[in-house]
Amino acid sequence: MRVTVLDHPLVAHKLSVLRDKSTPSPVFRQLVEELVTLLAYEATREVRVEPITIQTPVAETQGVGLSRPRPLVVPILRAGLGMLEGMTRLIPTAEVGFLGMARDDTTLDIITYAERLPEDLTGRQVYVLDPMLATGGTLREAIKFLYRRGAEQITCVCLLAAPEGIAKLEEELGDAEANLVLAAIDERLDENAYIVPGLGDAGDRLYGVVD
Ligand code: URA
Repeated sequence: MRVTVLDHPLVAHKLSVLRDKSTPSPVFRQLVEELVTLLAYEATREVRVEPITIQTPVAETQGVGLSRPRPLVVPILRAGLGMLEGMTRLIPTAEVGFLGMARDDTTLDIITYAERLPEDLTGRQVYVLDPMLATGGTLREAIKFLYRRGAEQITCVCLLAAPEGIAKLEEELGDAEANLVLAAIDERLDENAYIVPGLGDAGDRLYGVVD
């Protein structure tokens, strides 16, 4: 797995405001969008393009267009949804599919409760959005699911990761190739599998707590 951590002062600044527990949900949502657009720039470095001929006002020249099949963006519900706008701002012609996955707080098992994706992902470049790579269980299940459908290349875009989660993904994915693009790698997981120092529950910070 190739891990890229964005080293940029604006990323560090926006992340610091996100971490601050006094940052309200509307500001948090806006900052997540902005951060994801910055991460998306790096995450799409290998997006497939093909040569096209275009006519400028002055002359004919060669350019590039996004190849088909188009890239597929897959936010993991619920918190990944907060990253969708920031990603599609950079690649507005990408298709979007959805995976609903949640962690059972008692067993820590991952449950897939919703799925809206093309049956056949053969040849597709897929961008998975999930803000917090904590234990790695959700991303592992998502990556396996997408490869089973035929995805060719998978890039996960996360805001934060715990070293334990990265290690688990690397160990369990074996030879399956995946890219991981992050704003930061934090210190560790706590006993409730929260990232430390982290930013708390990303879904709750984005959308408020729903009982
Ligand atoms: N999910 C979150 O939203 N936050 C964490 O710290 C870990 C998992």
